[in-house]
Amino acid sequence: MYKILKKQKWSDTIFSNWIEAPFVAKAAQPGQFIILITSQSGERIPLTIADSNAKEGWVQIVYQVVGASTLELSLMNEGENLYAFVGPLGVPSEIENFGGKVLIIGGGIGIAPIYPVAKKLKELGNYVISIIGARTKDLIIMEDKMKEASNELLIATDDGTYGQKGFVTNIMDDILKKESEAIKDIWAVGPPIMMKMCTRVANEHNKQIWVSLNSIMVDGTGMCGACRVSVGGKTKFACVDGPEFRGNLVNFEEMILRQRQYCDQEREALMLLEE
Ligand code: FES
Repeated sequence: MYKILKKQKWSDTIFSNWIEAPFVAKAAQPGQFIILITSQSGERIPLTIADSNAKEGWVQIVYQVVGASTLELSLMNEGENLYAFVGPLGVPSEIENFGGKVLIIGGGIGIAPIYPVAKKLKELGNYVISIIGARTKDLIIMEDKMKEASNELLIATDDGTYGQKGFVTNIMDDILKKESEAIKDIWAVGPPIMMKMCTRVANEHNKQIWVSLNSIMVDGTGMCGACRVSVGGKTKFACVDGPEFRGNLVNFEEMILRQRQYCDQEREALMLLEE
């Protein structure tokens, strides 16, 4: 069974759970995700792995309450068991020693999945410059862990309550203006609009960028087609071909439209649960 070993509330809507899942912990690599189900009648929730420990057999997930299923998950307590916890799924990040600097960008809840990428890049000897950002100070998560996983850490908040006022893309643009040549690769994970804007900045500087696509997922095995995205003019499945893709090739407009498709149903389900 997949016991909730520890649970923390990081803000009004952001939670982190440490799940007992030794087999997933043993195999997990940066960039991969899991699908969990809270109860027999529950929906599948895909979540990128924020951290794992093979020796201790746990996997850490970070999630924001955005609908009925994530609300249900947030109401579960330490010691309770999840119905299912499947993974690791997806293709691991393409990480190596690039012989220079790498730029890591995490926005909001996207800071969690970017952490293992930064950690591994630093372990392999890259000079890691990380930028993390959120709307406001309270929504900046995992700052200490990101500091450890980076050689330089820069912070941005939209409202200026912490770090530099503005967006992660402002800092990204400044860095690329100064040292575009030195930056060997870039990763950005966050809301689709943020990844789209980061890709725009990368394109302006003729740089390649990785993004992690959190498209709608059902089976997570490439069978249902729910997570399809257009990459380089071809249909790809985020669950088996990704979730990381070269942002330069992603059709973000199509992906954002598809993500909005079920917003009404999601709101209805949430209202029913709250009644
Ligand atoms: Fe079904 Fe990817 S979630 S094909």
